[in-house]
Amino acid sequence: MSRIPLISGNWKMNLNHFEAIQLVQKLSYELRNHDYERVEVSVHPPFTNIRSIQTVIDADRMNFRLGAQNCHAEASGAFTGDVSPAMLQKLDVEFVIVGHSERRALSGETDELVAAKAKSVFAHSMVPIVCVGETLEHREGGEAEAIVETQVKGSLADLSKDQLSQVVIAYEPVWAIGTGQTASAEDAQAMCSHIRSVVAAIHGPAETELRIQYGGSVNVSNAAELMAMEDIDGALVGGASLEAASFAGIVSFQEV
Ligand code: 13P
Repeated sequence: MSRIPLISGNWKMNLNHFEAIQLVQKLSYELRNHDYERVEVSVHPPFTNIRSIQTVIDADRMNFRLGAQNCHAEASGAFTGDVSPAMLQKLDVEFVIVGHSERRALSGETDELVAAKAKSVFAHSMVPIVCVGETLEHREGGEAEAIVETQVKGSLADLSKDQLSQVVIAYEPVWAIGTGQTASAEDAQAMCSHIRSVVAAIHGPAETELRIQYGGSVNVSNAAELMAMEDIDGALVGGASLEAASFAGIVSFQEV
C-alpha cells in the first residue's frame, strides 16, 4: 500500500496574522498542482491566525490543509486561556498536533493527557498528529526505542482500531529540534519502523496505513533522503516552514 506523505509546517509561536497571510500566499505561489498530487501539505499557525488563514485558503481555493498546534481535551468549560477542539473544527481545521515535545517539556503534558487530546480531536472529526521522541540523554543511554515505545502506547491508548489507522505519528527526537542536527536517515527509519511495529502489535492492519512523519531540523537538503525511507511518510517542519521558498523546496522534494 502506498501512503501519501503529509508535510506539515509547525509555525510554533511565530508570525502575526498579517505575516501569516503573506506566508501562505507566497507558499501557494511557489507550489504547483502536481506538488499537491504527490503530497498533502498542512500549515499549523498560532491560534490567533487560524481564522485569517482559513479565509485565505477558502477564498483563493488553496490546496493547504489547515492545522493547529494544540488544543484542550474538553469541548468547552472553565479552562481560561485554552482553545477547544470544537472551536477548531468550526474553523475547518483538519489536523491538530498533540503532545509536541515542547509542550511535554514546558507545559508538563503526559502521555495520559496526550491520549485524551488525541481521542477528543478524533471525536471532533479532525486527525491528531501525535508527537513522540527521545531526548539526547535517552539516546546516549540506549533507551531511545523503549522511551518512544512507551510514549506511543500511552499516547494512543484511548483510540479505536479504526482511529489507529488514521492517526498520524510524528517522530521528533528532542535533540534534533531547532538544533540543525538531524537524525541520520537510517536512524530515523529504524525508529519509524519500530513505531510501526509497536502500533501493529496493538492493531494489525494499521501497520500498512499509518503515516509516520519525521521531524527535527528538516530542510531542503535533507528532506529527500529522509522521505525516501520506507517507513517515513512525511515531515513535521519547524524553522524551515517559516520561509516560503524553503518550505516549498521541502514539499517539492525530488525522490532519490
Ligand atoms: P525544527 O524543524 O525547527 O527543528 O522543528 C521541528 C519541530 O519541532 C516541528 O514540530
